[in-house]
Amino acid sequence: MQIAKRMEVITPFYVMELLRRAKQLEAEGRDIIHMEIGEPALPTPELITQAGIEYISQGQVKYTPAAGLLELRQKISDFYWQRYQVKVSAERIFITPGASGAFSLALGVSINENDEVLLSDPCYPCNQNFIRLFSGAVKKIPVYAETAYQISAELLEQYWSDNTCAAVVASPSNPTGTIIDRTEFQRLIELIEAKQGTLFSDEIYHGLVYEEGVASALEFSDQVFVINSFSKFFGMTGWRAGWLVVPEQFIEATEKLAQNIFISTASHSQYAALAAFEEQTLQELEIRRQGFAEKRDFLYAELIRLGFKIPVKPAGAFYIYADCSVFTDNSQQFAEQLLEEIGVAVTPGKDFGENESGKYIRFAYTSTKERIAEAMQRLELFLINQ
Ligand SMILES: Cc1ncc(COP(=O)(O)O)c(C=O)c1O
Repeated sequence: MQIAKRMEVITPFYVMELLRRAKQLEAEGRDIIHMEIGEPALPTPELITQAGIEYISQGQVKYTPAAGLLELRQKISDFYWQRYQVKVSAERIFITPGASGAFSLALGVSINENDEVLLSDPCYPCNQNFIRLFSGAVKKIPVYAETAYQISAELLEQYWSDNTCAAVVASPSNPTGTIIDRTEFQRLIELIEAKQGTLFSDEIYHGLVYEEGVASALEFSDQVFVINSFSKFFGMTGWRAGWLVVPEQFIEATEKLAQNIFISTASHSQYAALAAFEEQTLQELEIRRQGFAEKRDFLYAELIRLGFKIPVKPAGAFYIYADCSVFTDNSQQFAEQLLEEIGVAVTPGKDFGENESGKYIRFAYTSTKERIAEAMQRLELFLINQ
């Protein structure tokens, strides 16, 4: 028996090691403030949970069609119309086990061996590993504050080679929370189309946006893959439900792949997700969004006050990617110190790429404002005593 060669290029999530240590410290009785985890601390909205429980209690938890419940796909289609005034037919929408499932389907149906896929550095780390898993080649574009840590049309032009077939963007982004400006997004999509390439638009943080200007790739083209999820905005991380929008000509291939790789997304999660679009749930989520906006403003102001540099104020998601180079040139060591000495868990830049990653740490503002305030007090004391 041997471990497959491809596993040599699959990178681990370094924060998991940090999380393991955080749990260990907690077990020893230490009070740890979690700012490393990318999931809301609040529970799944009540109506969603109830819908899931009700379905399970009937005892008939069975497969659904591979593409997902038609009723749910239709609700998502209506949602695109209400939110973005974009018509997306339910047939183009596939329900998947989270954005992760959506991304694997999208790549599986559209890239060939050694096809080069462009990604920003920093970026959400798992997507590159999916590309490697499907034998594609990852090409990173170092991005900086000048382009809001996003791939611009100019950068795309510069990095696109004869082997390039696609690009991945995430707006708002993980780890930076920044968005691609609407005009730039349109230029980017037009450029990719002119090159007959593919765009994978990761829109998992849509809904968690605190400024004007975020756009869905679907507003500009129907020849894009859009990845989304019930995990973040809808507060359903552990339910493992998301969706993928595919161009019309990929419907058949996507259905075939979905049938084979996961048969169907967990049916109770799909029935639960039906309640995500109820007016009551959407109102609750809007209140939560406002809460996140407040926490973003608070954390942003506090980090600046403490001496961190944040060249672009994040417009969405629940992260601040802060430049800590005035305090250290090794953000991983800095993150470890914060955990050990003051019980504040954050994610080092290393988890998101190689580009200046030693200068950055990511703070997630997913816990309560009180806990975030407490973390900032501890951080202030730590920095004074350094
Ligand atoms: C940018 C981005 N894309 C995709 C995912 C995967 O999300 P899920 O599979 O839970 O929907 C995450 C999770 O943190 C993310 O931050």
